[in-house]
Amino acid sequence: MTASLTDATTATTEVARSTELYQRAEARTAHNYHPLPVVVEHAEGAWMTDVDGKRFLDLLSGYSALNFGHGHPGLLRAAHEQLDRLTLTSRAFVHDRFADFCAELGDLCGKELVLPMNTGAEAVETAIKVSRKWGYEVKGVTPGHAKIIVSSGNFHGRTTTIVSFSDDPDAHNGFGPFTPGFQMVPYGDLEAIEAAIDADTVAVLIEPIQGEGGVVLPPDGFLRGLREVCTRENVLMVADEIQAGLGRTGKTFACDHEGVVPDVYVLGKALGGGIVPVSAIAADRDVLGVLRPGQHGSTFGGNPLACAVGLEVVRMLATGEHQDRAAELGVVLRDRLEALVGHGVLRVRTRGLWAGIDIDPAVGTGREVCEALMARGVLAKDTHGSTIRLAPPLVITAEDLAWGLDQLAEVVRAADPA
Ligand SMILES: Cc1ncc(COP(=O)(O)O)c(C=O)c1O
Repeated sequence: MTASLTDATTATTEVARSTELYQRAEARTAHNYHPLPVVVEHAEGAWMTDVDGKRFLDLLSGYSALNFGHGHPGLLRAAHEQLDRLTLTSRAFVHDRFADFCAELGDLCGKELVLPMNTGAEAVETAIKVSRKWGYEVKGVTPGHAKIIVSSGNFHGRTTTIVSFSDDPDAHNGFGPFTPGFQMVPYGDLEAIEAAIDADTVAVLIEPIQGEGGVVLPPDGFLRGLREVCTRENVLMVADEIQAGLGRTGKTFACDHEGVVPDVYVLGKALGGGIVPVSAIAADRDVLGVLRPGQHGSTFGGNPLACAVGLEVVRMLATGEHQDRAAELGVVLRDRLEALVGHGVLRVRTRGLWAGIDIDPAVGTGREVCEALMARGVLAKDTHGSTIRLAPPLVITAEDLAWGLDQLAEVVRAADPA
């Protein structure tokens, strides 16, 4: 159902509740985020409703964690059934959902083994540890010398090791001392990667599409070339598909667009169905087999609730239905956004149902455009000042998507001085 514009501008007495809760939250929490002033109470599909009863079309999907929309019935069913039965064992014991989750996720990835964790950053940390250990035990790198190549503009999470190799000053500055062992090269520059590889290099850690960076795509052929280089040089290709993977781009993995299979998949966000944090890495036995008892773990990683929901996610993806839908609606998204270039929009980058839109500074900042969209009942998120990221739930209807894009067109066109 499509909200009318008046839904987003109801009586001021009701708005007070949103404002009050927003201000109370701001007063009692660290300001590590700058949220839009909306206070959500419930949600269904692509729509969220705030505490004042106003409805908003969600074009962010929790940064792709809600690929299947809010309250997906199959995912909720899996969660409810599991909640009533068993929620946590720790990995000290095995639970009855663990084998199916690992096997079916492994099959989806075409990999022999899976190691479940919780957040994306933990999965990235896991991939880093496994790559280093593989380097020492399998490749024969001198202990303590392992090097991992990363990209400029990367975003892999917020742990101290991960922010050590971030070139975003906000993410990096003030959090040293930093973890050594990473070398940065320009994103998408295959020659720079080849030049950086030496005898100590154990892995190239790459986002096949940079999400936080503003949906930045590497040059055509880059992933294929990287695969060849990694194979030739005996270096692991580690693909962080946390935001790009699991249907978002119109294929199961963003690497699929170039027919490339990395050595290690790093997954998160949508794997938890928007219900629980579930992340994982998937790799073959020659890589993940380097871990032995006591060397890595997490109390909650692979817990029964996470596995029940994650298994349902994997089964939904195994049908290909959501990937096809993202591809189909992605054409609409691309065509509609490209029509805005030159009309308040400088550039757009899309892949499947995912877009980075560079707003003409003459129109306003990304934040200002998101605020104007919010006033019209559409929620999106700015990144890096002047870029807006759109990641609608893959279950959005074509009508709702068209309506949301109408709002964006009206906002940027109304403010376009040209
Ligand atoms: C590509 C990528 N890797 C890792 C992360 C970190 O995930 P989490 O916030 O669950 O730790 C993110 C989060 O945005 C991401 O986009």
